[in-house]
Amino acid sequence: MVDRVVAGPDYIASAAAFRYRPARKARGKGSAMSAESQARETASFGYREVALEAKQDLVDDVFTKVAGRYDLMNDLMSAGLHRLWKEALVTRLAPPRGRRGFSVLDLAGGTGDVAARIVARSRGAARVTVLDVNAAMLEVGRARAAARGDADRIAFIEGNAETLSFPDRSFDAATIAFGIRNVPRIDRALAEAFRVLRPGGRFLCLEFSAVDLPGMARLYDLYSFNVIPALGRVVTGDGAPYQYLVESIRRFPNQARFAEMLREAGFSRVGYDNLTGGVAAIHSGVRL
Ligand SMILES: C[S@@+](CC[C@H](N)C(=O)[O-])C[C@H]1O[C@@H](n2cnc3c(N)ncnc32)[C@H](O)[C@@H]1O
Repeated sequence: MVDRVVAGPDYIASAAAFRYRPARKARGKGSAMSAESQARETASFGYREVALEAKQDLVDDVFTKVAGRYDLMNDLMSAGLHRLWKEALVTRLAPPRGRRGFSVLDLAGGTGDVAARIVARSRGAARVTVLDVNAAMLEVGRARAAARGDADRIAFIEGNAETLSFPDRSFDAATIAFGIRNVPRIDRALAEAFRVLRPGGRFLCLEFSAVDLPGMARLYDLYSFNVIPALGRVVTGDGAPYQYLVESIRRFPNQARFAEMLREAGFSRVGYDNLTGGVAAIHSGVRL
């Protein structure tokens, strides 16, 4: 799960293409949105520009294909680094130990890797709801949680981060790890995360970001595009999901732009920390 993203003006511009863009409003008589204008709503699927409505299904295919080998591939691709990054996320979250009922929503939580770490860090006190749109990823997560004895601490719920079914102000914290770049309408998912947080609740996002070390960027680039899809082919029998992975990372907004998106969603005290020279970053914000 490693790739390089180059920060720069063109990269920042590409972030705009990734975001939800409402079709232009028709004026005057017959102002209903035409099929043609609706078709203009697009999102990036890796380097491809696809109809906004098509992106979720394409992403879903990717994770259905890799679910059984997802965690193994993360270890192989990142040489175990993803574990350190997730631990860094949980350290920033600092779930209180012994405070029963501290409730966390882990968006796009997949196989529940982050949820397991939150529960462990809180010494079993936290309750985590893993929400993910992909049933295959959740199934792997459910089985693992049951095997660890965590089934009563982690709930696995199928749902879309863009349209959460939870009431307003229902969680103490919300996390999302390597998930937000897969969501077609990032702005909607951020607005929903804000809505379901209690006042004072924190949002933490771990995501691949823009490498800020010039020497490292080239090596990272070579590694990402040459090794990762090949590794995916060997381990899962299909390199395409991993080609999507490395491309999607490049299309994701850089640190500054993503911080701006958090502010636009209503979060205060927005900031970020780079990990491993910007290969990944943790963004945070608070609902006041
Ligand atoms: C790279 S995985 C990350 C899984 C997990 N958070 C982790 O760090 O191991 C991305 C996850 O995002 C999920 N996802 C994609 N679009 C989503 C959406 N709109 N709502 C909820 N989950 C989504 C995928 O199904 C997948 O499980």
